Amino acid sequence: MKLKKMLCTAAAALLALALAACGGATPPPAAAPSGAASVGSAGSADADFTIGIVQYTQHSSLDEICAAVQNELEVLAATADVKLNVIVKNGQGDAPTINDICSLFVADKVDLIIPIATPAATSAAAATQGTGIPLVFSAVTDPVEAQLVESMEAPGGSVTGTSDYIDTSLILKLATTQNPELKKLGLIYNLGEPNSVATIAKTKPILEEQGIAYVESTVTTPGEVQMAAQKLISEGAEAIFVPIDNTVASAMSVLADEAIKAGVPVYTAADSMVRDGGLATTGVNYTRLGELTAQMAFKVLYEKADPASMAVQVLNDGIVTVNTTTAEALGIDPDVFDPGEGYVAVE
Ligand code: TRP
Repeated sequence: MKLKKMLCTAAAALLALALAACGGATPPPAAAPSGAASVGSAGSADADFTIGIVQYTQHSSLDEICAAVQNELEVLAATADVKLNVIVKNGQGDAPTINDICSLFVADKVDLIIPIATPAATSAAAATQGTGIPLVFSAVTDPVEAQLVESMEAPGGSVTGTSDYIDTSLILKLATTQNPELKKLGLIYNLGEPNSVATIAKTKPILEEQGIAYVESTVTTPGEVQMAAQKLISEGAEAIFVPIDNTVASAMSVLADEAIKAGVPVYTAADSMVRDGGLATTGVNYTRLGELTAQMAFKVLYEKADPASMAVQVLNDGIVTVNTTTAEALGIDPDVFDPGEGYVAVE
């Protein structure tokens, strides 16, 4: 294996500035500056490889993924006796900030970038174009729609990764199981997130087929979620569906509060949004998704695997998660969501 001495002093200083934890306030263990022996601190010039992680924004699911990626990288590095320099940055949902982070990674010639969530991945793809720096993205719902890969099986370029693509008909089924008379569903999402747009586009025909009308509210920032929720409720939404939308996820507790006040159940496309007060979902284990992402990244770096021919890995765990506190507040028996083999109950 080749040892790369790529970090000049100035770059090391920049990288040191760049070191940040996934979630900001509560850094996961691997992000602690003291770190484990196998994961060098930012700017360590004797690392075998430098990896830049860019997390799109702060919400509990992306924090979970980021921590899982780092922990798994640490395990893999220790097993292979490789010294990794892992730099973690959070874009705080701000496009110029994310672009700056990606440009910094490119300027510092990191060996690989792991963007977490679609908007981070598209920004990283633009920044690395023509540089040869590989990308292994995490939790991109629809990488083809986001134009990151040519196909799921054969990405074709220097970009591959993991996807949390889910079948929304399974989530809608939770809603119609709880309320077979459901006539009007509210949809809330950010039109600027390709992950949400792709999910909503697939959801609408299913609703039409089932004779369920829908009303929509779109947001551009988490601050708009409360009003958007009130609008859906005033338009007579009997239940609300949230796709895998980062903007809504960042304000999920606000949406949950509004909905509970109005007696409206919220079905979400991710377990984190149920933990944050939504009623129920069926989906993916994001810790596993993060670990899988780290394994793919390690393969690219250590085994020199070619992202062009590494299929995008889709996890589809079908785990039902129900918030029992929310269920109680809505007067709903959480057991109606039991698919037969039980569900994960959160409070
Ligand atoms: N799949 C989302 C994307 O493509 C990212 C994501 C992961 C997410 N977990 C989530 C979004 C939970 C909302 C809630 O960008």
